[in-house]
Amino acid sequence: MKVWRIDSGAQALVIAGGEGIAECVWWGGALPSETDLAALAEAGRGDITGGMLDALAPLSLCPEGRRSFPGQPGLVAYQNGEALRPAWRFVGADESDGLALHYAADGLRLSFHFAPRPHGIIAAWTRLTADAAITVHTLSAPVLPVPAYLAEITTFTGRWCREFQPVRTPFAPGARIIDAQTGRSGHEHQPHVLLTAPGVTHTAGEAYALHYAWSGGHRMVAEELPDGRRQVAMGHASGSWGTGTVFQTAEVWLAHGTTGLNSVAIPFQRAIREALPPVRTPRPVHYNSWEAVYFKHDLPTLKVIAARAAELGAERFVLDDGWFTGRDDDTTSLGDWEVDARKWPDGLHPLIAEVHRLGMSFGLWVEPEMVNEDSALFRAHPGWRLGPADQVPGRGQYCLDMAREDVREHLFARLDALLTEYPIDYLKWDHNRLPPWPDAAQTRGTYALLDRLRAAHPGVEVETCASGGGRIDAGILSRCGRVWLSDSNDALERLRIQAEAAVVLPAVATGSHVGPRRCHTSGRVLPMSLRAWTAAQRHMGFEMDPRELTDDEAATLSRVTAWWKDNRDWMLAGDIHRLDTGVEMLAEAQIAADGLRFVVFAATMETAAPINPRPLRLTGLDPAATYRLRLIETPPGRSRAPVALARGPLTLPGAALMGAGVAMPQAWPQTMTVIEGARL
Ligand code: GLA
Repeated sequence: MKVWRIDSGAQALVIAGGEGIAECVWWGGALPSETDLAALAEAGRGDITGGMLDALAPLSLCPEGRRSFPGQPGLVAYQNGEALRPAWRFVGADESDGLALHYAADGLRLSFHFAPRPHGIIAAWTRLTADAAITVHTLSAPVLPVPAYLAEITTFTGRWCREFQPVRTPFAPGARIIDAQTGRSGHEHQPHVLLTAPGVTHTAGEAYALHYAWSGGHRMVAEELPDGRRQVAMGHASGSWGTGTVFQTAEVWLAHGTTGLNSVAIPFQRAIREALPPVRTPRPVHYNSWEAVYFKHDLPTLKVIAARAAELGAERFVLDDGWFTGRDDDTTSLGDWEVDARKWPDGLHPLIAEVHRLGMSFGLWVEPEMVNEDSALFRAHPGWRLGPADQVPGRGQYCLDMAREDVREHLFARLDALLTEYPIDYLKWDHNRLPPWPDAAQTRGTYALLDRLRAAHPGVEVETCASGGGRIDAGILSRCGRVWLSDSNDALERLRIQAEAAVVLPAVATGSHVGPRRCHTSGRVLPMSLRAWTAAQRHMGFEMDPRELTDDEAATLSRVTAWWKDNRDWMLAGDIHRLDTGVEMLAEAQIAADGLRFVVFAATMETAAPINPRPLRLTGLDPAATYRLRLIETPPGRSRAPVALARGPLTLPGAALMGAGVAMPQAWPQTMTVIEGARL
């Protein structure tokens, strides 16, 4: 038996194997360097009793039916209509760059790759090649064992305006399978899973996390076998692989932590942040025109709006949908990426000139992968549509077949022409319908177009949007510097969505806007201070018609925006720590990378069950260090004997702040309390 180990910070994998495909025998915390890995492999092996096979079939990096594995296999493939069940033999290991294990069978090669990454993350992927064409249905990135003491599987579902809803299921005999058939990383099934010990909270307990870095839909299997062992696997959605000779999974990113969900969220926030394409610093405050004017574009109005937005503190003006030929509503014209001469007789130049004069940069909305039937593009190239004519359209539109080179060539030429003619430093790249079926070639085509465009225009940043947060994953985030997390600008909804999304998203990549007073997607009216501080938790922007603001609202928004500008550099380079609170509150601490300062946002979502809310316990501080806390946003509320925090700065050791915590002021529901902290 050969054994290998991959160490990454506080996480380790140990892999053991002989002639057949190796097994991961340890996935968890760091191990002493002198650990006897062969003994470790043996120590975990279960017994054999009556009614079983004569040995435990290996829970290998690619479990095989051929070897009587009693669960979901890692590879399902066909050649000439026959199921492939290759007799894999070990060919060799390569430890020059992480670890690669190579196997071969007649005309086939299979390899498993592991690479330690910063912040304790390990990346793993699988590659399969064949001499003659095969059809792959399922191929998993290296399959891993899950400890039997873990209790729960958490996946994330969602919908338009309510992204990132956690779904918790207990581990039980059988498989929990998410097999996203919607062709996109998707609102429905985020490619992210948590496996957690009983009673885990944000700040305590053991957790494992896996993220599949792919935008085309994933398959996740978390399975408990009849013998009690458990496996977890991730790969492309089944049915999306197609027929060919080379198949490679995306990277699955692995994290392990022992101090709660934050301990597996923060490594992902950091790793995603470091993998982002270069973004402009300081991150500019955005203004986006969508909820102000929708498709109704006219220069005089937009000039007034731009001036007002700049006064409030905006630094980048993004012209949303509605600017291209014939686009007066969402039923028409996708594909015709020429500036509409009716609305813009002199092109976008006069608006851009005004935006620049006001000191803002200019961004533009596009949705390149799509076409409406009512468009010059569709009339010229009906064959460019992905899928048949009788598919159900979405928002009246169809996907273009991004696997076609002529389609990509055309889109590149149009976008390149726009970016060449106009001084645009930002594209909001939308994707508003699900492809008819999952198709890896479609995703590869989109990546290729994005990569080519970014290479040709390195100064242009791209934001990923898909009806809000329908395409969020580490694959797209290595190409796009920001996500439009949700079309919900309702601050209460947004707070929940952005808190849950911090399981993977760093603040710097998470767009958050102050919308209209009466929220367009929920009808709710919320106070400006809550709306402004909610946006100030992430990459801040505005998206209302600023002419609706009262003087009070404008003053609050300007004040919070000014605060954000003063603090954005350290906040956007720091970590988001969620805090454990009573149900009435949603709170997080954002801590600077050097630990010298932090800010706590504590939103009172509803009235507390007890008379006073639970004292707020911080996390992520040095227990021995002393910190000064200062309330910078005092929430309105019926307080008759203000708590210490409300009376003046508080100076306490980290141990106390993370222990009993501090009493919070009485606050009305739907308000935000903001506390600044500094290490003395
Ligand atoms: C999607 C986006 C919105 C907006 C519209 C424009 O719904 O999520 O933010 O850009 O498209 O049509």
